[in-house]
Amino acid sequence: FVAVLDFGAQYGQLIARRVRDLGVYSEIVPCDITAEELAAMGPAAIILSGGPASVYAEDAPDMDAGILDLDIPVLGFCYGEQIMAQKLGGEVAHAETGEYGPAQLMRLGSSPLLDGTPNEVQTVWMSHRDYVSEAPEGFMVTARTESCPVAVMENPRRRLYATQFHPEVRHTEHGERILRNFLFDIARLTPDWAMDNFIDEKVAQIREQVGDNKVILALSGGVDSAVAAALVHKAVGDQLTCVFVDHGLLRKGEPETVDAVFRDTFGIPLVHVNAQERYAELLAGVDDPEQKRRIIGTEFWKVFFEEAQKLDGVTYLAQGTIYPDIIESGARKTGGKASTIKSHHNLIPFPEGVHFDLIEPLDHLFKDEVRELGCELGLPDEVVFRQPFPGPGLAIRIIGDVTPEKLEILKNADAVVREELDAYNARLFEETGERNSAHSCWQYFCVLPDIKSVGVMGDERTYERPVIVRAVESQDAMTADWAKLPYEVLGNISRRIVDEVDGVNRVAYDITPKPPATIEWE
Ligand code: XMP
Repeated sequence: FVAVLDFGAQYGQLIARRVRDLGVYSEIVPCDITAEELAAMGPAAIILSGGPASVYAEDAPDMDAGILDLDIPVLGFCYGEQIMAQKLGGEVAHAETGEYGPAQLMRLGSSPLLDGTPNEVQTVWMSHRDYVSEAPEGFMVTARTESCPVAVMENPRRRLYATQFHPEVRHTEHGERILRNFLFDIARLTPDWAMDNFIDEKVAQIREQVGDNKVILALSGGVDSAVAAALVHKAVGDQLTCVFVDHGLLRKGEPETVDAVFRDTFGIPLVHVNAQERYAELLAGVDDPEQKRRIIGTEFWKVFFEEAQKLDGVTYLAQGTIYPDIIESGARKTGGKASTIKSHHNLIPFPEGVHFDLIEPLDHLFKDEVRELGCELGLPDEVVFRQPFPGPGLAIRIIGDVTPEKLEILKNADAVVREELDAYNARLFEETGERNSAHSCWQYFCVLPDIKSVGVMGDERTYERPVIVRAVESQDAMTADWAKLPYEVLGNISRRIVDEVDGVNRVAYDITPKPPATIEWE
């Protein structure tokens, strides 16, 4: 596998994903890992990520120089190049102005790392201020840009390589080729990371861990818990029981889908807890969004553990925790199997005297891989490609207090938006062959504001609710733009909502990007 040393929050994630896309398993390890600890993990290659710091800053992330002496191929990007140069006696200089964006790379001689890329110029993506002004002894400088003298440096004898630019971003024209050269020609790795191998391995591992014991899992209606359920079920069959806490805040038809997929198709023992009334009582009169979130989260575990305690002899709790949950929460030290600190598990509010051992079979998978796994396991598209949906559900799409009447309106209006935009996305998919093509919507839903407005229907004046349609294009929810939907699609949505949903007389479309707005309204 490839160990990606992460020198700045999140920089390593994209690299690790690119490496996996090329069929090689990769893991993110903290940059302060010692050479000894890293060697014990047995990586076949190491990548040093970029990072926002300057190697000269007082609190700059450091690395154990011994890592460069392990006789394992190393490739550094950006900060990774600078720290490699610094550790090996090269020079790092501070530029007055940085170099950000596309740059023209010029090759200076033969280069194993750049093999198969253009000899003249190629576009690479730069994002730096500091730069290596002098490569360490033993290194050849094999490419430069106008303002960066050591854009690529290589020491084939020691198998140490580095680039000032970022091969992992798509704007670097031949980034994939460069990564391939490193992984397959230099480090001689075999591309064997595939979901079918993963399933076999995990199934064997879960079987061994669980033995004859019983496992419980909470289905949320979301992708991660669904895939975890399908995988654990494949491993231990009916030793798994799923609990679905139906709080009444999912979208129209979703609780029925959970029943249909897990109980009927997969035949998994499923406890469907109807907790709608309990939630309605707790949420009555609550209009603060954070309080809604708290109530919904706390109650979920209460209901779940009540059910769990009714079942006999359950020892394990399976969860759909995924790799970004772990990396982003920073709660568990990533990497090194020995150094796995499962502190985020303390977040599960086990009641007094209750304890289950945890099984988290997806804890090293990225979201795309979880989806791929879900497809391999035979889960339907509506589950695997379900769009992001907030844990507190429709409660945070009703501005102000949640009532059964408002929930009913929101569910019905939302169902119309979903039908129309599912169809719109499907048309784009047919045209482009891409599920997430430039103009397909990434997330779409309705919001119910806490106001009424005047309208006219027939000869009568009405005083009813408006709904707000929100549809965004995004990659990862960090930024988003409002979807430029055809007027015809918007018109159909508006007409159908007013015609079909009782209590609504007006439809508005939210045309604000994120930032400055957020995707959700609460
Ligand atoms: P915002 O509104 O912050 O949303 O732009 C970014 C993404 O996160 C989802 N979201 C939530 N997910 N619990 C969740 O599990 C929440 O409380 C929550 N709030 C927002 C949102 O749907 C979007 O995909």
